[in-house]
Amino acid sequence: MTSPPILLLCSAALAVHLACAKSESLATPTPTPTASACPDVAASAVSPSAALARTPPMGWNSWNRFGCNVSETLIRQAADAIVSSGMKDAGYEFVVMDDCWQTTRDASGAIVADPQRFASGMKALADYVHSRGLKLGLYSDAGTQTCGGRPGSKCFEVADARQYAAWGVDYLKFDWCNTDGMTAPEAYAKMRRALDAAGRPIVFSICEWGSSQPWRWARGIGHLWRTTGDIADCWDCERQYSRGWLKLLDQQVGLESYAGPGGWNDPDMLEVGNGGMTTAEYRAHFSLWCLLAAPLMAGNDVSAMSAEIREILTNKEVIAVDQDALGKQGTRIRDDGDLEVWAKDLSDGAKAVVLFNRGTAAASLTVSWTELGMRAGASLKVRDLWTKDDLGVFTGSYGAQVPPHDVVMVRVQN
Ligand code: GLA
Repeated sequence: MTSPPILLLCSAALAVHLACAKSESLATPTPTPTASACPDVAASAVSPSAALARTPPMGWNSWNRFGCNVSETLIRQAADAIVSSGMKDAGYEFVVMDDCWQTTRDASGAIVADPQRFASGMKALADYVHSRGLKLGLYSDAGTQTCGGRPGSKCFEVADARQYAAWGVDYLKFDWCNTDGMTAPEAYAKMRRALDAAGRPIVFSICEWGSSQPWRWARGIGHLWRTTGDIADCWDCERQYSRGWLKLLDQQVGLESYAGPGGWNDPDMLEVGNGGMTTAEYRAHFSLWCLLAAPLMAGNDVSAMSAEIREILTNKEVIAVDQDALGKQGTRIRDDGDLEVWAKDLSDGAKAVVLFNRGTAAASLTVSWTELGMRAGASLKVRDLWTKDDLGVFTGSYGAQVPPHDVVMVRVQN
């Protein structure tokens, strides 16, 4: 079987991928199961292991940079680069292959990976990723077809979960295209049961775009749940199917209490290093995602990133804020138009603080200890997490000049 020629059209992380999907015609149609042939499994006594995501999952995902252009070569290269760039040492663990790895189902209903692009097979790919000390993630969809027009898992949940487990898959991102008439909590719970029955620990990433407020029902079903539509590689643009990270950031306010060990709000994957923003803007994007305790899924070409981008993605002190064991999502504690202060409680009693300048001119920003819930008269140590300087001991407040579209991120502690 040959690869669908449409792959060429779908080869970048296209904002228009839905339109792209519509024009996609696959070589063999997916068998359409009847309602009576829609297998399920009994609920397991075991609920999803919270231990799989005590802290927000970290890894890399193919979609933002490569769109439909996935192959075993790409995934192997990404795994190699995650190791050689120091990203693995910094905590990135899952190498997630997003949409378009699948072509069809065989006569028995088994999902078939593109035989040209995955000539060695998915098991061999999982083995390779594991041999690099990393874990493999795959993508599917709760509906009849994925957003890229490939076979979805509707009515094949049990078989697909078994297949993923047999291949050695460690993470499943489960999308929500082509789900007319379906109810998200039921559909995701069904896949949860199938994963439990398959018997392999698999992190379950719910990608339902926030449409039915998954933060209210997804804990206990998945380990992370998208709270928004798709991210775009821009500051605050609005595109047909995606939006800049600033817009997604604003949607996180009010969701803080739903995040915590075992289950995380997911404001979508990182765009750091994809070329649409300045280094300062990427630093701000990364800092705020860490302050939110967001899953950190890099989405760039790791094998070709600049030193500046690598420094952002591998800043261990900033990542430690994201991965802090207390598992509290940070909050916006002040909103003065373009000037904002965000803070996150850390397990040792310290606070991570982001002074955020959304404006186009440099501005001075101050955070007071009382705003942080600390004693006004306290003398506290302040460390800059980007310059990695101990700035000294400050009484009452800390202030800094913040360049336009940039942050100053500090740790404040006794
Ligand atoms: C949806 C998801 C994206 C990506 C694409 C793949 O838009 O939200 O993250 O997985 O589908 O087609």
